[in-house]
Amino acid sequence: RILILDFGSQVTQLIARRVREVGVFSEVVPYDIGEETIRQYGNDGSLRGIILSGGPSSVTEGDTPRAPQAVFERGVPVLGICYGMQTMAAQLGGKVESGQVREFGYAEVRARSHTALLKGINDFVTAEGHGMLKVWMSHGDKVAEMPPGFSLMASNDACPIAGMADEERKFYAVQFHPEVTHTVQGKVILSRFVHEICGCKSDWNMPDYVEEAVQFIRDQVGDEGVILGLSGGVDSSVAAALIHRAIGDKLTCVFVDHGLLRLDEGKMVMDMFAKNLGVNVIHVDATSQFLGHLKGVTDPEEKRKIIGREFVEVFQAEAAKISNAKWLAQGTIYPDVIESAGKDKKGHTIKSHHNVGGLPEDLNLKLLEPLRELFKDEVRELGLALGLPHEMVYRHPFPGPGLGVRILGEIKAEYADLLRQADAIFIEELRNTLVDNPLGDAVPPMTWYDATSQAFAVFLPVKSVGVMGDGRTYDYVVALRAVQTQDFMTAHWAHLPHDLLGRVSNRIINEVRGINRVVYDISGKPPATIEWE
Ligand code: XMP
Repeated sequence: RILILDFGSQVTQLIARRVREVGVFSEVVPYDIGEETIRQYGNDGSLRGIILSGGPSSVTEGDTPRAPQAVFERGVPVLGICYGMQTMAAQLGGKVESGQVREFGYAEVRARSHTALLKGINDFVTAEGHGMLKVWMSHGDKVAEMPPGFSLMASNDACPIAGMADEERKFYAVQFHPEVTHTVQGKVILSRFVHEICGCKSDWNMPDYVEEAVQFIRDQVGDEGVILGLSGGVDSSVAAALIHRAIGDKLTCVFVDHGLLRLDEGKMVMDMFAKNLGVNVIHVDATSQFLGHLKGVTDPEEKRKIIGREFVEVFQAEAAKISNAKWLAQGTIYPDVIESAGKDKKGHTIKSHHNVGGLPEDLNLKLLEPLRELFKDEVRELGLALGLPHEMVYRHPFPGPGLGVRILGEIKAEYADLLRQADAIFIEELRNTLVDNPLGDAVPPMTWYDATSQAFAVFLPVKSVGVMGDGRTYDYVVALRAVQTQDFMTAHWAHLPHDLLGRVSNRIINEVRGINRVVYDISGKPPATIEWE
């Protein structure tokens, strides 16, 4: 396995994902995890290499992050990327200086092919016969003098030492970012590092992982019972399927219906898990309890708090009935774990992972988090390997408070019913409409559902006038929202084709009595958020 020390770059997780994509397990830890931890890590021979990530700091300033010295004493290959290269240079006796200008974006560097890392890898060859790489750079500082033992591995005019290598000790460093796709040969370079230089085998794959994870869960929980809050979302569903594969009937899922789910969601979850997979699922219909407490409440934060609180209460009451349960399973995934660890270090509050309302802490249960090593893509792959349908595994995310944040102002059962119908029509049309594809058969067809990251309808509790046949209507408005995003932190509104929007609008107005107007939300995030509340 490969250990990645995180110096705070936005793209550290990408390093781990790329390494895993080439079949090698990798783990991200904060750079200051400690000398002793580094000395002990993977001491059974499993640690094959270390990668130092990029980061926002400057090694030219005194109190900035450094790699534990043990990194350079473990006797395994080390690859420094960007800040990782600079700290490697500084710590091993080279020199780093602050650049006058930041170099950001596309660049071409000459790759010196005498090194094991870059030998024979290039994007094009110049007239002089120099192999060149198209790379992505993002740095202010640069290495001005290589440490003893290093030779030049890559260079260009802006950055004369863009890569360096000490082949003896198998220390390599690059100023550019091989983990981003803009560096065309990035994956090839990372693969060269982990396979040929570190000697890792390609043994990170889903079928093997399922076997390992199943065994691990069995060893961990033994004969004890496990409870899991099933929401119908990807993470809790995959966690349920995996744990069920491991321990069968000893898993009990609690599915709380707060009355703010999408159309037929309860049925879908029960069919898939209880009927098809034979999982024990307790379906709690708590609609009247939730809606009762939400009556008259219009403030978005207040609504969220009530939904969260009620969820915990209902879940806890159900959990207390399951007498043999000793474990609470959660669908925590790797990005949550990395984020929590990183924030913890700097003294920020740890993000408590919550699929719906929050973690019932006083249940006195041990925590089982079987997805905590996996990235979202891997969770999806795992779901498919466990036999969950593609449609479920590639579902858009759905917020814990559900339609509660998509009905503006006070939540009423009537509004939720109208919204559910409108939303279902929108989603159905997105699933049924293919994205125009000028390349024809060259690329697989994709639906607008898959081409958007999240899409839904929002209920606006305002009435407007319309005409229907000979009559005048005075009914509610629905807004459609569809966004495209990588990380949900920023998002673009999706440029859905007008005929698709027209079809959705017609169908909603004709089929959902009570709605006579449909509008499309064309706000980006920021400044708008994805949800309306
Ligand atoms: P916003 O609206 O903040 O949403 O742009 C970003 C992403 O987070 C989801 N979201 C939530 N998920 N509980 C959740 O589990 C919540 O309270 C919540 N609020 C927003 C939202 O659907 C989008 O994917």
